[in-house]
Amino acid sequence: MTSLLLTGIAELVTNDPTHDGTPLGLLHDAAVVVEGRRIAWVGPRHAAPDADAARDLGGPAVLPGFVDSHSHLVFNGDRAEEFAARMAGESYAAGGIRTTVAATRAASDEQLYANVARLVAEMRRQGTTTVEIKSGYGLNVLDEARSLAIAREFTEETTFLGAHVVPPEFADDPAGYVELVSGRMLEAAAPHARWIDVFCERGAFDEDQARTILAAGQAAGLGGRLHANQLGLGPGVRLGCELGLTAVDHCTYLDDADVAALADSGTVATLLPGVEFSTRSPYPDARALLDAGVTVALASDCNPGSCYTSSMPLCVALAVREMRMTPAEAVWAATAGGARALARDDVGVLAPGHRAHLTVLDAPSYLHLAYRPGVPLVAEVIA
Ligand code: NIG
Ligand code: FE
Repeated sequence: MTSLLLTGIAELVTNDPTHDGTPLGLLHDAAVVVEGRRIAWVGPRHAAPDADAARDLGGPAVLPGFVDSHSHLVFNGDRAEEFAARMAGESYAAGGIRTTVAATRAASDEQLYANVARLVAEMRRQGTTTVEIKSGYGLNVLDEARSLAIAREFTEETTFLGAHVVPPEFADDPAGYVELVSGRMLEAAAPHARWIDVFCERGAFDEDQARTILAAGQAAGLGGRLHANQLGLGPGVRLGCELGLTAVDHCTYLDDADVAALADSGTVATLLPGVEFSTRSPYPDARALLDAGVTVALASDCNPGSCYTSSMPLCVALAVREMRMTPAEAVWAATAGGARALARDDVGVLAPGHRAHLTVLDAPSYLHLAYRPGVPLVAEVIA
């Protein structure tokens, strides 16, 4: 296997605290050796070993590729009019999901594939190297299974979200829909999925329904995650912690018991500040979570309704400006935090044995991700 020595790195975010005693594990004038798909060595330039080839990056900051642990990319059409209505004063309601369900069911496989490819490429240009993709706009056996099969073409991190909302044809029989999701739909989805997710919220699925669906998913070998406490206080976060789920996502409305449950359980709280931005909602209290010792991840939630951004740099900037996270906390949450939220120990950290996923900035420091919002700072992605 040939090795490549990368030098000319003014600042390297490793997320390996052994370098500087902080979570970000910063190195200055650093070097990285890549062997095949993995990192072989990380350290100061002056101590770098020889390699088969060398490349001087010319002095930028480099960080692990972003790990976007929450997105809904398999859909057709958009909901720009709904966004405009919201900005004119309407509030966000989960019901808009049904508009996208109709458009997605009507789309060909090729159309859906092309849309995912377009958005994954957009993410990549903004520094994302690992992405989780959910189904959830099919909501019948065939369309959920094909959504996941298409998502699998792009990532290992696929999530079955048949329990997004109750589709119109089951409006009078939500119990029948829960049975379908936990039965035949799950059977068709599971071969293409690693995770199962439920939108546990008023207007979507309640606590008992979420328990039933998550238990069926776990029995089928899928890991559990939840959309929880997005639109108001509710049982979702505590349920996720009680069940020991890897992550609960949104966490917009939390009371003290929710924060304590997250801290005690070790469940990752995934915050999605693009949603609050795009729905003009209050931002989650990231400081309360961090100060309580909760592991926080940041993700885009890219979807055509509540948040149509694919940009992790935007999420970092929002987390810093609007959620009072420090730039270091936000960058960690968007990389190592995302990896934790997906139970991955091979991404999100630049250390020997990990995947060689590096995002090269057109900036001398990671601080610029929050300091220069809206500027395309990703110069190159090495993956
Ligand atoms: O994560 N909350 C539920 N699902 C998505 C929104 C989906 C949509 O509006 O189409 C979310 O925000
Ligand atoms: Fe979501």
